[in-house]
Amino acid sequence: MGAGSLGCFIGGSLQAAGVPVHFIGRPRVLSALRATGLTLTDLDGRRVHLAPQQLSLADAPSRSDARPSPALVLLCVKSGSTREVAASLDAVLEPRTLLLSLQNGVSNASVAQQAAPSMRALAGVVSFNVAEQGPGHFHRGTSGQLAAARHGALEAWLPWFERAHLPLALHTDMQSVQWAKLLLNLNNAVNALSGLPLREQLLERGYRRVLAGLQAEALAVLDAADIVPAKLTPVPAHWLPTVLRLPTPLFKRVAARMLRVDASARSSMADDLRRDRPTEIDALCGEVVRLATRVGSEAPANARIAALVRTWPQRRQPYGPLELLRALGL
Ligand SMILES: NC(=O)c1ccc[n+]([C@@H]2O[C@H](COP(=O)([O-])OP(=O)(O)OC[C@H]3O[C@@H](n4cnc5c(N)ncnc54)[C@H](OP(=O)(O)O)[C@@H]3O)[C@@H](O)[C@H]2O)c1
Repeated sequence: MGAGSLGCFIGGSLQAAGVPVHFIGRPRVLSALRATGLTLTDLDGRRVHLAPQQLSLADAPSRSDARPSPALVLLCVKSGSTREVAASLDAVLEPRTLLLSLQNGVSNASVAQQAAPSMRALAGVVSFNVAEQGPGHFHRGTSGQLAAARHGALEAWLPWFERAHLPLALHTDMQSVQWAKLLLNLNNAVNALSGLPLREQLLERGYRRVLAGLQAEALAVLDAADIVPAKLTPVPAHWLPTVLRLPTPLFKRVAARMLRVDASARSSMADDLRRDRPTEIDALCGEVVRLATRVGSEAPANARIAALVRTWPQRRQPYGPLELLRALGL
């Protein structure tokens, strides 16, 4: 559900592994898939192609006698569409169908569950980056795994994800995994406002200090809320700000994996700003601000960068690192 970058990559990988997949997406993406088929590539040189006639495509969920109700739905729309899309699925699918949110942020599974009360919504996390490289061509630009909430009905799916080269780890405490991913996603706004590709932005110490400030603030809020973020990176979450603030030559050595990113890769929020699409800022920095309020605290740097993203259409000029540090009070 949501045949964009992530949905096409994960759906296509599962189909190539032998799972029948039905893609629901927008006409722009569907017409490219009908014309060229679906091509998936990754940074390790893997390449998969599914021809147009192999693809089952639709622009809305529907009941069909020809197609069995799905055993698993992967929710791959941006956070702002979750409520509407979950309600549309609830209206046509069998009760208790599994709905696995693969979205960023920490609230999508619960928003989906409220909007689709007859379905079983589960939280998932995707720790790699996929970008659309051309019509029908989706490229995975970083390494990383899939995680999901432990649920008996997901166990049967594990060999399929394994065969699709997308090993899925099940976790009892998904909240800690989601918050750990959100800490990393705080870079989405920094990257979008920098106007630079991810690798170039991360090699600039000033931008890393901005990200370190946002993460340190979020970590203090998590501490106050008694949430312990999981370890998704070689260093524990609480060390991330220190590593980011290292001088660049040292950072390059310590964070070699973080820098294993295609030279042209950008955060999807950068694409959203460029194309005047709604961003997920509210599901990322906005969550830090809301959690801070809940624990009687504040997260001014996250609040300020969220405001800069929201007011981008009035400016449309990248922010330099010092300008950003000053604007966020860091
Ligand atoms: N891409 C990544 O590397 C990555 C990695 C980890 C997590 N994620 C998360 O995964 C989610 C999806 O990200 P993405 O990059 O794949 O976004 P995306 O490329 O924008 O894909 C979402 C697609 O779903 C479509 N859509 C929305 N509502 C729909 C509806 N009612 N019917 C049919 N299609 C609909 C969107 O169309 P419109 O644009 O027209 O609405 C868009 O084509 C986000 O939460 C993101 O944070 C992404």
